[in-house]
Amino acid sequence: MKKFMSWVDARFPATKMWEDHLSKYYAPKNFNFFYFFGSLALLVLVNQLLTGVWLTMSFTPSAEEAFASVEGIMRDVEYGAIIRYMHSTGASFFFIVVYLHMFRGLLYGSYQKPRELVWIFGMLIYLCLMAEAFMGYLLPWGQMSYWGAQVIISLFGAIPVIGDDLTQWIRGDYLISGITLNRFFALHVIALPIVLLGLVVLHILALHEVGSNNPDGIEIKKLKDENGIPLDGIPFHPYYTVKDIVGVVVFLFVFCFVVFFFPEMGGYFLEKPNFEQANPFKTPEHIAPVWYFTPFYAILRAVPDKLMGVIAMGAAIAVLFVLPWLDRSPVKSMRYKGWLSRIWLAVFCASFVILGYLGVQAPTPTRTLVSQICTILYFAYFILMPFYTRMEKTKPVPERVTG
Ligand code: HEM
Repeated sequence: MKKFMSWVDARFPATKMWEDHLSKYYAPKNFNFFYFFGSLALLVLVNQLLTGVWLTMSFTPSAEEAFASVEGIMRDVEYGAIIRYMHSTGASFFFIVVYLHMFRGLLYGSYQKPRELVWIFGMLIYLCLMAEAFMGYLLPWGQMSYWGAQVIISLFGAIPVIGDDLTQWIRGDYLISGITLNRFFALHVIALPIVLLGLVVLHILALHEVGSNNPDGIEIKKLKDENGIPLDGIPFHPYYTVKDIVGVVVFLFVFCFVVFFFPEMGGYFLEKPNFEQANPFKTPEHIAPVWYFTPFYAILRAVPDKLMGVIAMGAAIAVLFVLPWLDRSPVKSMRYKGWLSRIWLAVFCASFVILGYLGVQAPTPTRTLVSQICTILYFAYFILMPFYTRMEKTKPVPERVTG
């Protein structure tokens, strides 16, 4: 084995990569619950790729056959139903995991210097993931696939001058048709997964360049022993590989439970109208995107003007990109920040969840008012951040991690 490895190492940096990224990558020793979600996101990514490949083997990307081919997968293909549910439930779990992963970033200031690029690559992953999920949802060619895509694509029509041409260019037709389905299929199974994988590699390379943050927000590289090893660091392998396996096992329990018993999650993971084939002549009574898009959908609907709504929705995502430059706090972790930061983070999270709930519901005047208030609070969290993070009194950060 040793001989074989030195043969490989003379031609490819296998041992060096193993050491740089695992056995000699020193991670802070105080990782907590919130640090499971990066490795879980990798797990879900692999699940989506594998189940996706198997689904593609039996799926027909045409307007005439797509719906029936999905029914065929569910009924006739061996293990087809479980593979399909692993993929559709996996999409929702991807967002659950990624939202918790991002929340950890907000909680411990992981986006702050020197991890701005880790955050930006993460945001690009998030955008790519949204595009991937949106295009994937059109493929089963159900009523919600069709009408959900209709609503979202027509938003581009609000852009002045080029709007109409742009929507036509995206659809490839005067209305959503088999042509749209075909190109979404190509993007969903090939183009976006490649981009996503590339971004994940960049995300982790950027992280390993600067080192992981931790719940105390302390840079462990500042205090090293005589061998240059951070005093508060432990090798990622075996310590965190073993710890992550615990997370994986617990995650798989929950995931299997949902896949086996509640794969549609009462219409939240797979919406009920989607069990009816797409019909361009019959609009569903109430069109709503899947839950992970609904906070942004609620922001869109909260603004009375269509173009302004589209801008607000875009801005709600775009503002996250500049987060590293909005936080002016001298400390990273919420443990040492003041009350204002804590209250605003809580307000932001509450608004996001309420907007998510309102986005699923049919609009009423009261609901619209609440979504307008939540939209303002959502943006206020970011716009006021340079002020409250500078104003508030922070606690002194200890030299060593506290565990
Ligand atoms: C496919 C999706 C993603 C994968 C596979 C992924 C993977 C990872 C992994 C393995 C880590 C190191 C382990 C950990 O800290 O939990 C990490 C760290 C990090 N990720 Fe992601 N990530 C994804 C999406 C995102 C998104 C959407 C964001 C935010 C916009 C983000 C922001 C971060 C940050 C800031 C860190 C450093 C955290 C720290 O050191 O405290 N990631 N990611």
